[in-house]
Amino acid sequence: MKRQFLLLVALLVPFMLSAQQKQQPIYLDPNAPIEERVEDALSRMTLREKIAIIHAQSKFSSPGVRRLGIAELWCTDGPHGIRPEVLWDEWDQACWTNDSCVAYPALTCLAATWNRDIALRYGVSIGEEARYRDKDVLLGPGVNIYRTPYCGRNFEYMGEDPYLASQIVVLYVQGVQQQGVAACVKHYALNNEELYRHQTDVDLSDRALYEIYLPAFKAAVVEGGAWSIMGSYNKYRGTHACHNHRLICEILKGEWGFDGAVISDWGGVHSTEEAVLNGLDLEFGTWTDGLTEGASNAYDNYYLALPYLKLIESGVFGTEELDDKVRCVLRLTFRTAMNPYKPYGAMCSEEHVDAARTIAEEGIVLLKNKKANLPVARDAKRIVVVGENAVKMMTVGGGSSSLKVQREVSPLEGLERYYAGRAEVAWVRGYVGDVTGEYNGVVTGQNLADSRTAEELIAEAVEAARTADHVIFIGGLNKSEQQDCEGADRTQYGLPYGQDEVIRALAAATKHLTVVIVSGNAVAMPWVDEVESVVQAWYLGSESGNAIARVLSGEVNPSGKLPFTFGMKIEDYPSHSGECQFPNPDKVYYHDDIFVGYRGFEKRGIKPLFAFGHGLSYTTFKYSDLKVSSEVMGVDDSLRVSLTVTNTGKCAGKEVVQLYVADKESSLVRPIKELKGFEKVELNAGESKEVSFVITRDALSFYDDQKGEWRAEVGEFELLVGAASNDIRLKGGFILQ
Ligand code: BGC
Repeated sequence: MKRQFLLLVALLVPFMLSAQQKQQPIYLDPNAPIEERVEDALSRMTLREKIAIIHAQSKFSSPGVRRLGIAELWCTDGPHGIRPEVLWDEWDQACWTNDSCVAYPALTCLAATWNRDIALRYGVSIGEEARYRDKDVLLGPGVNIYRTPYCGRNFEYMGEDPYLASQIVVLYVQGVQQQGVAACVKHYALNNEELYRHQTDVDLSDRALYEIYLPAFKAAVVEGGAWSIMGSYNKYRGTHACHNHRLICEILKGEWGFDGAVISDWGGVHSTEEAVLNGLDLEFGTWTDGLTEGASNAYDNYYLALPYLKLIESGVFGTEELDDKVRCVLRLTFRTAMNPYKPYGAMCSEEHVDAARTIAEEGIVLLKNKKANLPVARDAKRIVVVGENAVKMMTVGGGSSSLKVQREVSPLEGLERYYAGRAEVAWVRGYVGDVTGEYNGVVTGQNLADSRTAEELIAEAVEAARTADHVIFIGGLNKSEQQDCEGADRTQYGLPYGQDEVIRALAAATKHLTVVIVSGNAVAMPWVDEVESVVQAWYLGSESGNAIARVLSGEVNPSGKLPFTFGMKIEDYPSHSGECQFPNPDKVYYHDDIFVGYRGFEKRGIKPLFAFGHGLSYTTFKYSDLKVSSEVMGVDDSLRVSLTVTNTGKCAGKEVVQLYVADKESSLVRPIKELKGFEKVELNAGESKEVSFVITRDALSFYDDQKGEWRAEVGEFELLVGAASNDIRLKGGFILQ
């Protein structure tokens, strides 16, 4: 009898459950198509609930709909690690003790890896940390093009080339979003300098817009499938970017079919009417402490809050635009906060630490290495390290990307650990830079104060250097105001704090000097001919010191390549010459047009200090056997380009094979050549591998301003394959017909 009863229950339970499920509203059914969920939720919301969901309720969150169980959305910076918690209404620290993260290398370093697998790993790792901290939207990555080395936020971006940035950003976005966390690609668009970012009004040719400044955003949306995008502070043709009709309605949502949410940069909204009509979906940060409006709840006074409600109630606006915004926010919510299938995430795991170190090691660029000065000789007994950046914590500072890390291995610590028991590692100060050690209430706890004069510090450094087998100067910039920091640009191209004098004095005192530059920007190197080695080490995050030690010692063979041009002097940059001005408080026209970075240097025949794509290795590579699958190509066909790369040196290494395309016959001026393909290959000593690329019309096209379309013109094209933009090893060609 009992068995029969149990059998009956077992048979009935599935029916009872499915009856219950049927009663569940569609919007709560994670298996229902997302658009049905969106429409169902929308149909149940009141006007006030719709208004509430399209603006912030705190510094980093927007409300859901409590009555309906629609979740809040929580955002976090981004883009190198998960920002520590701040107070509800303030930038100040909430002083949680469980929010220390792993800091990943800055995005310039990621771009310098030229490695798509690494970009995916970066996205997955940071996405997992965001997920574990219960964040729904990661405010990053940044893909503004490196137009000037003075831009304070270049370290948060992916360099000067639209193709390279596009390739890297797609994988970063996908990695993050696999965790059920939205990437919020920023700062859309034309936010290429900081100081006057709220007022700079950019104008430029459509050709420069489409060919240089938009491709990485487009790739993030179209190929990466980004779920949100951040409208930038600056204006474009007179209107603020986050509610700019052309940028958002026509291009982003129109041409690219973006169906995610457009989020304003914090305090980037300036008009209810424009925000309503021009595609902004979610307003954040207006009156940036959230309270200065003086009302009981400043959030109610946001442009997309009560002012919008009043305009609807008075009949100025209908609810069509509102419903569209709510749809975008709901879609974002269902993809993230209300996605029950997302993974759980992880924080500060060994895998994350390993990822941070691997990214750093792959991104470090060996710029110069005379007489095989590096790696540091195995029999070196005394290594002298000079410079503040050898000890300064670099994860704190720089603006909104500032982090609170569980641990950060400084370059000195990394070297000391690596050489423990093998060589003595001594440190001397060399110069005094920024000793504040605090950002937004996160304090490094380091006391870097030093009252000695520059002469005394140099004398000490020189004396120490004389007794060393190898001297490593570690300096650069440091994320303090005007030294790679949000909200302020650099004011000098040269190194600050008298570092040039220190380097010159060291160069005179030793024959084994390595200069390591920690920065997110190019710097002048008037001493470059006097030193044996130069290494570009970026801001490397938690594992900085370990990565630097492993590269300098030869444990890891460097394989990074520059994602932007290092000019000899600031006037060499197209953005700082001719009619171009800097900084730009008002209207600015980008006279440098499409000739940004190497495109501009090459056009004007200016020799860079270190070219785009440059980066050395401890081994050497030979390029051979270039094959182009056909001498002619139809406009809608494709070509295969292949070659062989051989490691001709004595140790294993990785090489970034770069493919540039030159249009030899064109109705309008084109860059001398443009990057259209790259592959990073790993080769043991003596090993050869074939590398191949596929050329389609995309790689050959330019944006025709007049016709408003991409066009590939028939005629002759040259294919240039090499190890850097100024180190072309093989040439081929074909006719497009
Ligand atoms: C920055 C954004 C950042 C936001 C939130 C703004 O000032 O421009 O990049 O995501 O603040 O911190």
